[in-house]
Amino acid sequence: MSNPPVHVTRPFLPPLEEFIPYLEEIWTSGHLTNGGPMHQRLEAALCEYLGVPHLCLFNNGTSALMVALQALELQGEVITTPYSFVATANAIAWNGLDPVFVDVEPTYLNLSPEAIEAAITENTSAIVPVHCYGNPCDTAAIDAIARRHGLKVVYDAAHAFGVRDSEGSILRHGDLAVLSFHATKVFNTFEGGAVVCHDLEMKQRLDRLKNFGLDGESRLAATGMNGKLNEVSAAFGLLQLKHIDTALEARKKIDTHFRLALEKLPGLSALPRGRQTNDNFSYFPVLVEPSYPLSRDELLTCLAERGIHGRRYFHPLIPDFEHSPFRGGDWPVARDASDRVLCLPIYPGLSSDELDRIVYALREAR
Ligand SMILES: Cc1ncc(COP(=O)(O)O)c(C=O)c1O
Repeated sequence: MSNPPVHVTRPFLPPLEEFIPYLEEIWTSGHLTNGGPMHQRLEAALCEYLGVPHLCLFNNGTSALMVALQALELQGEVITTPYSFVATANAIAWNGLDPVFVDVEPTYLNLSPEAIEAAITENTSAIVPVHCYGNPCDTAAIDAIARRHGLKVVYDAAHAFGVRDSEGSILRHGDLAVLSFHATKVFNTFEGGAVVCHDLEMKQRLDRLKNFGLDGESRLAATGMNGKLNEVSAAFGLLQLKHIDTALEARKKIDTHFRLALEKLPGLSALPRGRQTNDNFSYFPVLVEPSYPLSRDELLTCLAERGIHGRRYFHPLIPDFEHSPFRGGDWPVARDASDRVLCLPIYPGLSSDELDRIVYALREAR
């Protein structure tokens, strides 16, 4: 019998019986959405776990990003990375803003501070960097550029749940930071997301914007959206939080195993982990070097033939998608990485047999 396929990730599901009491509570309260008790408890629990002062839950990371940008009342151009998931640029465009893509730096593939500074014009109002794969951006340099030029910063922290540096959560950087709790993320609520902010006034503004823009029963403060997280998802988040440290530990073991294995596989380089003191091991990106006997796409196919399904995060670059509404450009570092990157499977339920199969397949794929 052939082995079952191994995908790049698998959602983390705690034991079903542990979820039943939460569902019973929801059935008893009859409260299904609109900021109910589970929602309130999850906001408080996440603030505590992440070490952030205020957090506003959303029904997905994309709506969180859209509302975060709306809340800052931006205009004109927003500098961002072409090396990300399309949601980053879509959220900018949804706000009627013009995404200006600039290149990434070669070590962690995060926005290059020099490239940001070179792209600033009198029309620039904000920067949207991505903590790609959970590796923190050069926040000191980016925040300093923003201060110098009077720009807002919204970090797309979709990959960066729980990541900390020596001074605390990396979500404290910028004006706002946005998380995704999509099923495939390190911490999930089926679908979900959040905006982290510094003060209560901003939290209340975000709360209004995600609730249609309503301020009380008869005042419409803005053209808001419906970005509310439902109670079942919020309850699932509370349960996930109980398991998160075990899940992160399991990811760490896989990361360590891959890094050791790759030392003996010339031509395949693991992307280094960055300045974080607490990591989340959300992805395992590998760069296929020119010295490797196969191209990235040949390696992808070769692994798929052995039932190992890696993913090309991030290929193509956002502006290079067919029918993309975004202007093309010259981003040599991002394009080179996009042509050579392959993310290997990493998730808490990955068994040691499966891990061995992946390493064996990498060794054989020559
Ligand atoms: C970098 C990045 N930004 C934004 C998103 C959007 O999050 P969501 O899927 O929760 O809408 C994702 C992932 O899905 C992502 O990877």
